[in-house]
Amino acid sequence: MTEQAGGDPLFQSQDPIFNRKELLHVGHVPEEDRIVGRDDEIQSVAAEIGAITRGDPPNNVMIYGKTGTGKSLISRHVATRARDAAEDNEIDCDVLYVDCSEANTETRATRQLALSLADQTSYDDHIPVRGVGTMEYYQHIWSILEEFFDSVIVILDEIDKLDNSNILMQLSRAREARKTDTYIGVIGISNKVQYRETLDERIDSSFGHRELFFHPYDAAQLREIMRNREDAFQPDVLEDGTIELCAALAAKKHGDARKAIEILKEAGELARRTTSEAVSERHIKQAQEVAEINRIEELTSGATVHAKLALYALASCIVTGDRETYKTREIYERYADICELVATDPITENGLYRQLKEQAFLGVIESEKTGGGRSQGSYLLHRLVTDPKHIVKAVRRDDSLGELPPYDKLTDTDGSTRGRVDLSTFS
Ligand SMILES: Nc1ncnc2c1ncn2[C@@H]1O[C@H](COP(=O)(O)OP(=O)(O)OP(=O)(O)O)[C@@H](O)[C@H]1O
Ligand SMILES: [Mg+2]
Repeated sequence: MTEQAGGDPLFQSQDPIFNRKELLHVGHVPEEDRIVGRDDEIQSVAAEIGAITRGDPPNNVMIYGKTGTGKSLISRHVATRARDAAEDNEIDCDVLYVDCSEANTETRATRQLALSLADQTSYDDHIPVRGVGTMEYYQHIWSILEEFFDSVIVILDEIDKLDNSNILMQLSRAREARKTDTYIGVIGISNKVQYRETLDERIDSSFGHRELFFHPYDAAQLREIMRNREDAFQPDVLEDGTIELCAALAAKKHGDARKAIEILKEAGELARRTTSEAVSERHIKQAQEVAEINRIEELTSGATVHAKLALYALASCIVTGDRETYKTREIYERYADICELVATDPITENGLYRQLKEQAFLGVIESEKTGGGRSQGSYLLHRLVTDPKHIVKAVRRDDSLGELPPYDKLTDTDGSTRGRVDLSTFS
């Protein structure tokens, strides 16, 4: 329904394109009936934590998946439903959510847990916000749990951003260590599949958890997700085929629901800015271009210098060469040249291989194993999933890299030039 602002006609003119634009906002959390295309994932998460609804201990679970695959949404959704179902069975249950990209130290995370537990109960001990350490926060957490709850689900979102993972051990050992009798189930979420490797063995074994992988959405699922929010637009404003096109483009690039919705919104904004009466395929295509540059920038903003140089090297190979795919070794050679030119110590080839794998997981590149024939063994071939110029633009934004060498100054070991590029395309 369109919200009308009071009686002042100045604010009553209807938006010609949007009806309920908030449905397309980045932070918007869809209502239950607007979550689509994730039934299996919902079932899997429910299977891990569902025991609490019967008064039994839940499993810990780690959810991995690329950005925009519904990890945060589905975790909160299932946890809340589990809590409601537990309460129907007269089990006192709570759901706690910590965004570890903000609460990125153990002290911050435990403080947030303690404060939100206190907030939801009549706990009357004062919890200081400053000047106390992690141990004191844990004490409050155990006391509140013991006094008020039979079970609790703790969602640690973006868990890889935590500076140490001791909290996992504390939470999973709390019963065993007789801190509390409350059952604690942890849902950890990360878009870095290597996260587990970084866990201390001690923590890994005490946290003993299941792992779930959320895959990118396909075109049909993205279509369904966007169809379910069509009422963000005025009736008949979306031309036939626009949602289908948007879904197809997003599925081909990344399968990220958040980005797909953003493209739809951006297309609406474009239509409005150009005073068009409808959102057409042309608007979707333009919006997609803008979104793609933003996406690569976001994805690479957290990458290491070496990952960025590796991407730069791959972009360079593609632009100056005659192929779309390159071996790790070939990228490494170009990368090493670039390192020399920018006076940076290169990492090893194996190190670079790991950085490329990380980028493949994030969806900036695609890596494919290829059999190299009987005597050659198999090797990985990497390609960019996006236009090299987007990569170059994004990498050049990183000031710490200083002045990156232009591609046409790079020469092969035999002294020949490695092809020329039109540098104007990269400025
Ligand atoms: N199955 C779905 N149905 C409806 N909307 C969805 C669905 N999945 C994702 N969305 C929309 O996309 C947004 C992003 O999803 P979510 O925050 O769960 O992604 P994520 O996997 O946690 O990504 P990140 O790794 O970037 O945190 C949601 O807020 C929601 O608006
Ligand atoms: Mg998330």
